Amino acid sequence: MSKQLVLITGASAGLGLEIARVVMASNQYRVVLTARPNSMGRFADEGIFENEDVLLRPLDITSADMRGELIASIEAQYGGVDILINNAGFTFRAVVEDVSEEDRLQQMNTNFRSPMELIRLCLPSMRQKRQGKIINISSVGGQMAMPTMAVYSASKHALEGATESLWYELKPWNIKVTLVQPGFINSKGFEKVRKTELSSLSSKETSSAYHQHYINMETFIEKVMHLTPSTSTTVARNVFKVMRTKNPKLRVAGTWDAVFFTLMKRFIPQRIYHAILYYLLPNIGKWGK
Ligand SMILES: NC(=O)c1ccc[n+]([C@@H]2O[C@H](COP(=O)([O-])OP(=O)(O)OC[C@H]3O[C@@H](n4cnc5c(N)ncnc54)[C@H](OP(=O)(O)O)[C@@H]3O)[C@@H](O)[C@H]2O)c1
Repeated sequence: MSKQLVLITGASAGLGLEIARVVMASNQYRVVLTARPNSMGRFADEGIFENEDVLLRPLDITSADMRGELIASIEAQYGGVDILINNAGFTFRAVVEDVSEEDRLQQMNTNFRSPMELIRLCLPSMRQKRQGKIINISSVGGQMAMPTMAVYSASKHALEGATESLWYELKPWNIKVTLVQPGFINSKGFEKVRKTELSSLSSKETSSAYHQHYINMETFIEKVMHLTPSTSTTVARNVFKVMRTKNPKLRVAGTWDAVFFTLMKRFIPQRIYHAILYYLLPNIGKWGK
């Protein structure tokens, strides 16, 4: 039997690269590693080269042409994608007032709309084969929102909602759908968080209304990311487990804190839950002054 074909988006760095390493090390799959055209050179830097089971393809997920061409060529050569891992994404750090319509579209295009379009392209061949797996990398931010992360949380909540619908829609074809929710990952991920034009100004200017929001949240998130024992490898192994499980759950925690926040949300009454989180915000007494 030929190996199942796995497509990973955003495999040039971070979690996507780690998932790629875990999948390649298993020798059980044919894997298509994709990256934006300008990031393709990183594969060679990481010692990853093409062979019979590893294909390297350029894909900016926001490009309809690139998405269409890639999936058509995989269908023609290999009969379609068996496991789609929608990992590529980015994070805007900005309060709602600092997010323009253009910023909002950019965040939604990358974290929500493009993964949905990729899913739509992969589904006809999966339905025909009556099997397949779709693994969407969400976030703890997909079930709870933090200040300065509004548009990121919105994009992951959208991903979660649509994926939950998909779970029901695709079950009749034996296509499995899972959201993996990482929380904080011990990485330099915070260095890659982007600011919008307005949030960049607000975080620099001490006189800005939201200056305290930014400096406190930035310091807090950086500290927690340094302290957490969960790494990209922890999450990548959880993704691999989902790939290997016959009937994976719809939602899978990627890190220990994701388990903690899920339990907290499930068992603590809403009013108390939000109050606890609010009073835990760093230096909250200074915000808004
Ligand atoms: N790190 C965390 O703490 C954390 C927590 C929860 C959820 N997540 C989720 O995990 C996923 C991976 O995040 P990460 O931490 O590994 O981030 P990362 O290190 O910044 O890697 C993101 C990857 O996505 C790619 N990417 C971004 N925009 C793209 C586009 N338009 N087309 C194709 N590729 C694109 C990047 O490519 P370039 O190198 O070309 O930019 C990079 O390979 C994301 O969905 C993120 O929301 C991460």
